[in-house]
Amino acid sequence: MIFVTGGAGFIGSNFVLHRLARFDEPIVVIDKLTYAGNRENLASAQHDPRLIFSHTDICDGAAIAALFAAHRPRAIVHFAAESHVDRSILGPGEFIRTNVNGSFELLEAARKYWQELAAEARAGFRFLHVSTDEVYGSLGPDDAPFSETTAYAPNSPYSASKAASDHLVRAYHHTYGLPVLTTNCSNNYGPFQFPEKLIPLILQNALDGKPLPIYGDGLNVRDWLFVLDHCRAIERVLETGRPGEVYNVGGKNEIRNIDVVTVLCAILDELRPRAEGRYADLITYVKDRPGHDRRYAIDPSKIERELDWRPEETFETGIRATVAWYLDNRGWVDRVRDGSYRDWIDRQYGERT
Ligand code: NAD
Ligand code: DAU
Repeated sequence: MIFVTGGAGFIGSNFVLHRLARFDEPIVVIDKLTYAGNRENLASAQHDPRLIFSHTDICDGAAIAALFAAHRPRAIVHFAAESHVDRSILGPGEFIRTNVNGSFELLEAARKYWQELAAEARAGFRFLHVSTDEVYGSLGPDDAPFSETTAYAPNSPYSASKAASDHLVRAYHHTYGLPVLTTNCSNNYGPFQFPEKLIPLILQNALDGKPLPIYGDGLNVRDWLFVLDHCRAIERVLETGRPGEVYNVGGKNEIRNIDVVTVLCAILDELRPRAEGRYADLITYVKDRPGHDRRYAIDPSKIERELDWRPEETFETGIRATVAWYLDNRGWVDRVRDGSYRDWIDRQYGERT
């Protein structure tokens, strides 16, 4: 049995579904169901007895300790976080609470549980912390990509809160010997991404005929990775990573924002042409994000070399699959946008219980 925090969010739900399709091992999803948590993401596994859902805030240390005692997991994969940079600029408090205090509560509960385990279970236990490349700050055009030894230089409240959690995770290994693993990944895209992030937001605005907002000059660079490649990397680190180690995960797909949006417009022109004009006509430059990091790029050579992980999707294949998913799942997007995803579980089960 493993715990997955944040398993109703974008990457967490992809990870849970991917894992249930491949392994018999049960999973307890621990999720507070913030605005970003959507139980509908796990709908395809709703009748699977291996999936247990716990509606729990990771900041609630007593509740987390009770879950450890009840389920006795062999590992925990920690995705739960406030994850949107723009929201962290508008309201940093929740980012400190969940990303720093919540990670601390989780580490404390894990440490106490792990210290009581018998020797073999203790040796096999893992705490995998899912983090981000944003902790390394911003690169200049000619700088080498981020490696595991790049100095931390977070620039937003979001990345600062993730950096703080990374440091706590490291300290729990160094001080107590807790068998932790940390992954720092670049920008993900794919199914179930909440439509406030660049790619799903652009797709929805385009289909609605609304402006496609590009921050600043549109020349900021992100290193894009298809979400299932990230999930496969996490799985590889969980099973074969060395405790105490950090692994950077990225797809070597550095692309400027304006080019990402142009590609999305071209695919939509092909698959769902507008009655008049082209989708790129909707591109609109808007005021920049404060403190906007210019460039992220990951050097994934350590995880490639040590754990033999490589992405299976190119940006071309992954982005096409993503556009197709959003076109085929307009209902999912509509329920997110009108808020009805919040009561999906009531509608699903209300009359049955
Ligand atoms: P998301 O915002 O889509 O999902 C976050 C999930 O965490 C939601 O289900 C939410 O309900 C849950 N959550 C939030 N606060 C909680 C709390 N206090 N207790 C319990 N659950 C809580 O995020 P995502 O994009 O899937 O990112 C998942 C993780 O991966 C995050 O830690 C993020 O920092 C990291 N990451 C994301 C990306 C990316 O491109 N999205 C890249 C690298 C790393
Ligand atoms: O690098 C990993 C990070 O990637 C993760 O840690 C974060 O959780 C995840 O949200 C993502 O952060 P970004 O800030 O890079 O993602 P976002 O989708 O918000 O923005 C991607 C780029 O597009 C960024 O340069 C800002 C720009 N942008 C974004 C939005 C929402 C726009 O130009 N217009 C927009 O409307």
